[in-house]
Amino acid sequence: MSTLLLLPGDGIGPEVCAEVRRVAAALTPDLEVSEAPYGGSSYDAHGAPLLDEVRDQAIASDAVLMGAVGGPQWANAPRHLRPEAGLLGLRKAMNVYANLRPAYCFEALAGASSLKTELVSGLDIMFVRELVGGVYFGEPRGIETLADGQKKGFDTAVYTTSEIERVGRVAFELARGRTNKVHSAEKSNVMESGLLWKQVITDLHAREYSDVQLEHILADNCAMQLVRAPKQFDVIVTDNLFGDILSDAAAMLTGSLGMLPSAAIGDPNKPGLYEPIHGSAPDIAGKGLANPLAAILSFEMALRWSLKQVEAADVLLTAVKKTLDQGAKTRDLGGALSTVQMGDAVIANIHN
Ligand code: NAD
Ligand code: IPM
Ligand code: MN
Repeated sequence: MSTLLLLPGDGIGPEVCAEVRRVAAALTPDLEVSEAPYGGSSYDAHGAPLLDEVRDQAIASDAVLMGAVGGPQWANAPRHLRPEAGLLGLRKAMNVYANLRPAYCFEALAGASSLKTELVSGLDIMFVRELVGGVYFGEPRGIETLADGQKKGFDTAVYTTSEIERVGRVAFELARGRTNKVHSAEKSNVMESGLLWKQVITDLHAREYSDVQLEHILADNCAMQLVRAPKQFDVIVTDNLFGDILSDAAAMLTGSLGMLPSAAIGDPNKPGLYEPIHGSAPDIAGKGLANPLAAILSFEMALRWSLKQVEAADVLLTAVKKTLDQGAKTRDLGGALSTVQMGDAVIANIHN
């Protein structure tokens, strides 16, 4: 029997994970689902956002699905104990270096985007965000006091050849199963790590993937092109920081941040980490207003990528499409359904 570890976390995390639990019970009753403390709520209860035993349980599971972490109440916690540090620590411990973030526009939601319907109708972009390197983890980093009394905050953006190659490979492989086109986004015009990124992707492409169409794009231009003509993109491979920012922007092309799932993968024989790309949404937490579809679609990705239950994943994707076609919308999509009502609607369509 496969195991799924749910890490509900903070804010709307527990609300959207409750819907994943109900969907899993309806769709894959044999899946063994367990839960563990995580994020700010774990810090409050146990003194750390990611306990060693939870990390070990995650590594021993077949897949891990998290809700969200963070919130203003932990803004002043020591950095290494902040909820976000738990998330970064988990990604690192699981070594899930490639974060697949599909920005897919469901037909029923083309009108819910902030862009004109014709710009986003049929949109299907796959971001491949490097997830365990770059400025998120680079050393040295810190805040120091200078001789003149002012402070200096600094981070290090760093990538090695192998870190770039392994994520590049994921992007090229994915492109072969899609429309065979990869954009690699960096800032090679200003950053040394960006220049190396471009060189390594260029070499890898020439050596192993010359059948795939490759275009290099500066990350700032990529942001502009995403809102000008997003359908020119298929696979976009980029570093940790640019991937974070560009994928949030792309979320609005699909109607709402509450729609975007993600799959963080590494070694195919190890568990993946599945996470909606949205955060804990403190402004709506506890009100039953959160859209659970990003979490439910993250479960769909877990079924497909880690749990090897492709048929169940197809059933779930079809159920979500049907639910949206029926006009089901939470508030972020311009509707009035609650989190639980959206979960109910998806579950009803799993069986029909
Ligand atoms: P956020 O994603 O939590 O919220 C941004 C906006 O989108 C808010 O208006 C929110 O109400 C809305 N929103 C987000 N998810 C939604 C959903 N499922 N349904 C409906 N509306 C939704 O980003 P933020 O406010 O910048 O960050 C809040 C906290 O979350 C911070 O502590 C941040 O570090 C954390 N965060 C965590 C993750 C994660 O756990 N993966 C991701 C992003 C941010
Ligand atoms: C995301 C989030 C995280 C990130 C934060 C909460 C650490 O924004 O998953 O997109 O920056 O990676
Ligand atoms: Mn983000």
